[in-house]
Amino acid sequence: MPGWDGERYAEVATLQHELGRRFAEALRPVAGTGGRAARVVDAGCGDGVVTRMIAALPWVGDVLGFDPSPLMVSKASSSSSGVAVEGASSSGAPGVVFQAGDVTTFVAEDPFDLAVSLNALHWVRDSAAALAHLRDALRPGGRLVAQFVSEGARPSLEDVAQRVATGPAWGSHFAGVDAPHVHRTASEWRALAAGAGLAVSGAEVSDLAWDFGTAPAFEAWCTVGFTAWTEHLPADARPAFVREVTAAYAEVAGSDHVFRFQQLRLEVART
Ligand SMILES: C[S@@+](CC[C@H](N)C(=O)[O-])C[C@H]1O[C@@H](n2cnc3c(N)ncnc32)[C@H](O)[C@@H]1O
Repeated sequence: MPGWDGERYAEVATLQHELGRRFAEALRPVAGTGGRAARVVDAGCGDGVVTRMIAALPWVGDVLGFDPSPLMVSKASSSSSGVAVEGASSSGAPGVVFQAGDVTTFVAEDPFDLAVSLNALHWVRDSAAALAHLRDALRPGGRLVAQFVSEGARPSLEDVAQRVATGPAWGSHFAGVDAPHVHRTASEWRALAAGAGLAVSGAEVSDLAWDFGTAPAFEAWCTVGFTAWTEHLPADARPAFVREVTAAYAEVAGSDHVFRFQQLRLEVART
């Protein structure tokens, strides 16, 4: 199953890249070991744009980005002018490597000083496994900074997509299919992190909005992000599904082209 499409993602990912710019800007420097610059891993790196923003920070050394979608890894690697590394691909920037990987099974060959993840962990149902594997990828004292959609008072876009998917018009296509996303509160994430033996230094929630300008622009963005639902539908039915979700979501957001979403920034350290 190919999952997220890297080419199409890169075409519509202005929002994600802006969030990435802010995310990278807010990262506090982490020391590497033995006088080296920090080794960083990016879980769910997508098209690799944000990974490269982080790689450009002056205190960052080698960076590994991984993602389960082969199309995302291929897009992330596509600016490559460098030499391919076995089982991985170079991004063209020295020290930046992309490879296929799932955060619930990821095993680091060498420990990292910092693990980051942007808007990937709410697509991972087994949050405890994700945290355990990221913890094990860190050196003692190493940090994890992850930002993703959290549970809030307002139904999220993903909640609305799932409601439509399991409703009368589309339910037959989703029989026995679990919701692809999971949204937890900040306190639930704090408890999960503590349970994984991680020391929590922050779990801050921001309520954000992004204006796509027009309904078709918002629909185009949803079309790329809804793969987890639309892959269960015949290709010719997908546009109607996306339209039904965006119409239902307009009632929640109060607009047919404004996306409202919560972001939890979780900061933890391996003890
Ligand atoms: C919204 S994109 C974010 C990509 C990138 N971090 C960014 O901010 O542009 C979500 C990414 O999470 C990835 N993802 C989904 N399940 C994952 C898993 N189990 N492990 C790691 N990444 C996962 C998807 O393949 C997709 O590339």
